[in-house]
Amino acid sequence: MANSIKKIGVLTSGGDAPGMNAAIRSVVRTCAFHQIECVGIYRGYEGMIDGDFKVLDARSVNHIINKGGTFLKSARSDRFRTKEGRKEAYDQLLKHAVDALVLIGGDGTFTGGMVFNEEYNFPVVGIPGTIDNDIVGTNFTLGYDTALNTVVEAIDKIRDTASSHKRLFFVEVMGRDVGHIALNAGVGSGAEEILVPEEDLGLDRLLESLEKSKHTGKSSSIVVVAEGDKTGKNVFELRDYVEENLEGYDVRVSVLGHMQRGGSPSCFDRVLASRMGVKAVETLIEGKNNVMVGTINNKLELYPINKAVKGHSKIDDELLRVSDIMST
Ligand code: F6P
Repeated sequence: MANSIKKIGVLTSGGDAPGMNAAIRSVVRTCAFHQIECVGIYRGYEGMIDGDFKVLDARSVNHIINKGGTFLKSARSDRFRTKEGRKEAYDQLLKHAVDALVLIGGDGTFTGGMVFNEEYNFPVVGIPGTIDNDIVGTNFTLGYDTALNTVVEAIDKIRDTASSHKRLFFVEVMGRDVGHIALNAGVGSGAEEILVPEEDLGLDRLLESLEKSKHTGKSSSIVVVAEGDKTGKNVFELRDYVEENLEGYDVRVSVLGHMQRGGSPSCFDRVLASRMGVKAVETLIEGKNNVMVGTINNKLELYPINKAVKGHSKIDDELLRVSDIMST
């Protein structure tokens, strides 16, 4: 491998996701394997601007593969959105002799990296890390699988109360722009209805479906709602609407919130993170950059970063249909 890269910086940015630590570990150890220096950049682009760097060796990342969050910390940086902020960041990279960056995060992280690459021709490779799974160019982002398992476990518990008290529960899950968590965890937990940002089923259809469920003998129901759903009502308003328009419903709301982002990563996320970290470093060593490491049909593929930030990954139509059939 031709190698003009002597030092790689790694950072995590945007919302944390389980598997980020496993990805950092992989980047650090792959650097050590290829005898490249690795520096951890704390607090994402904020720390890059402030020069918050620390040299990491293979032993610095012991015992983190199983940890949620990110030990490098994360931030959303307004300063990096400015030309001045990016100049300060560039100066810090020069000062610390960093030749290339591995960026672990979502589309905001990649947008920052893409602009930085355009302005300074600075080599960057992205690793998709967000529980939302909303990045184009990869079937899975780090943290998504763990979040799904967390949500399914929570809904299983909520169902115990729902069925004991014959209640209807609206469960709000994360997903500002996309409904992947809602749809997959909804199907996985046997939800009666799933409301996602990609499709507005309409409130009438929701009432109809709940009525139908009742007539077919269901005494309790779970409706999973993505936070970005398009009914125009939040979960509390949905509760009020159903109570006003349907008789005999005892409705409760449960907002799962940030617990979905935490916790020990699943085996799937740990393995994917380990693979992506190796690929990211070796991509830079091979002289390629400005790409994201994605996984397509379980093969690692490189995807142009400027395409990865355009739009969101599509919801699975087949799974939407499965969910409809399952609520019969
Ligand atoms: O990590 C992505 C995400 O979980 C979105 O689904 C959600 O809208 C957002 O993060 C909330 O993040 P924060 O509270 O950090 O702004």
